[in-house]
Amino acid sequence: MEAVHQSPHVLIFPFPAQGHVNSMLKLAELLALASLRVTFLNSEYNHESLVRRTDILSRFAQYPGFKFETIPDGLSQDHPRVGAAMRDMFGSLELITKPIFKQMLFEINPPPDCIIGDGILGLTIDVANELGIPIIPFRTTSAGCIWVFSSIFDMIQAGELPIKGNQDMDCLITSVAGMETFLRFRDLPSFCKVSDVKDPLLQLMARETSKNFKANGLILNTFEELEGATLSQMRTKCPKIYTIGPLHEHLKARLADTNQTMSDRSSNSFREDDRSCISWLDKQPKGSVVYVSFGSIAVLPREKLMEFWFGLVHSGKRFLWVLRPENVPRNDGECDVVPTELVEGTKERGYIVDWAPQEDVLAHGAIGGFLTHSGWNSTLESVTAGVPMICWPCFADQQLNSRFVEEVWKLGLDMKDVCDRRVVEQMVNDLMVAKREEILKSATEFAKLAKGSVNAGGSSNCNFDCLIEDIRMMIK
Ligand code: UDX
Repeated sequence: MEAVHQSPHVLIFPFPAQGHVNSMLKLAELLALASLRVTFLNSEYNHESLVRRTDILSRFAQYPGFKFETIPDGLSQDHPRVGAAMRDMFGSLELITKPIFKQMLFEINPPPDCIIGDGILGLTIDVANELGIPIIPFRTTSAGCIWVFSSIFDMIQAGELPIKGNQDMDCLITSVAGMETFLRFRDLPSFCKVSDVKDPLLQLMARETSKNFKANGLILNTFEELEGATLSQMRTKCPKIYTIGPLHEHLKARLADTNQTMSDRSSNSFREDDRSCISWLDKQPKGSVVYVSFGSIAVLPREKLMEFWFGLVHSGKRFLWVLRPENVPRNDGECDVVPTELVEGTKERGYIVDWAPQEDVLAHGAIGGFLTHSGWNSTLESVTAGVPMICWPCFADQQLNSRFVEEVWKLGLDMKDVCDRRVVEQMVNDLMVAKREEILKSATEFAKLAKGSVNAGGSSNCNFDCLIEDIRMMIK
């Protein structure tokens, strides 16, 4: 093994949100396991949460050459940083963080041989190109999502965007190559559903994504067997795509190679996992529980929350629900506590936690289904665990992920745009009983493929080795 001080130094800069930091920390750990030196750049705000997770910090401290650095995200301390308010971050990062990042690159010692920037943060590509530092973006979303984002200008040119007022949302889109048979207007990301194509968020997503194709490569948390068709389309514009996912499973496989296990390891969450739910799951019958979680950013108005709750209770199925206090906004814009009637009424067949060890939950034998917001990390974790999904996408890439889950991969049911207790009840029963057999068949098959891709000789495993080789060639 080479000495760490001779190995390449990679600087990793995630978009400052839980779902992004979570998967980029996994990438960082994979690079550290391959003996690369890694600097992980966290926002000051997020790092304050992370330093409370001493278990995570001590895990990374074991890697020689690994260090955390921090940078302001440009927002005030009391900014909510959830839901639609997350949009403010794009402006503040560009205006305030970008010049600080540039200055930091002059000062950081040793200087990075390569930057792996979050692909949604085009500023990392701008600055790296200006300073002549190799840059490989990493996108936390699916290949399908990036392909649709990169087709925004094509959709505008074809007159499919902006979506017309009288548009039948179930009509198929014709201007996204390779998706003509299944992509409906309804499945477009929420920021595409605007009346003016000059909308700043729409323009930003299209622009930042097109920058991804002009870097030294692109790293994706997906695997060839899942998204091969879309990846072939993408490679016509960006030949060097390293698909190295599912990252959480990949990390598990590489740790096993070094005789380490993932058991009893904490997740990379800013919050403490409530492991009491695992003891509760231990007491439930096999495949009987629906796991419910809407990720780390989504905010659910109280009325919608109650529709889900009634639907779950009336389905007669057991459920484990992650309800973060900030899931529930109050009328004054602040966040509420979880409604007491909901907590009290759940005790018979349900269990509520404010943060679960999700990967362990999904791998637990008692789990039979996942009611999810279709964030990409959650989707991949469910695919790998072979757990069928009910998708209720909230924003961004989630509308696309849910379409792929139902229509392309046949791994679950897409409930987008509907929030009604009767539909929730029906879908839970379909997933757990009526349609279970056919969905489970697909889920079991994809879980096998996911695991195979990260083992020795598998597609993601080989692609990761190529990535490391290519980064080594970048040493000056
Ligand atoms: C966001 C976007 O929603 C997502 O689509 C994008 O790909 C990344 O950024 P988020 O909304 O948080 O992420 O969803 P998701 O991508 O699913 O990530 C959530 C992560 O938090 C998952 O890795 C999940 O395992 C973890 N989690 C969630 C927990 O560990 N415990 C919980 O209780 C809930």
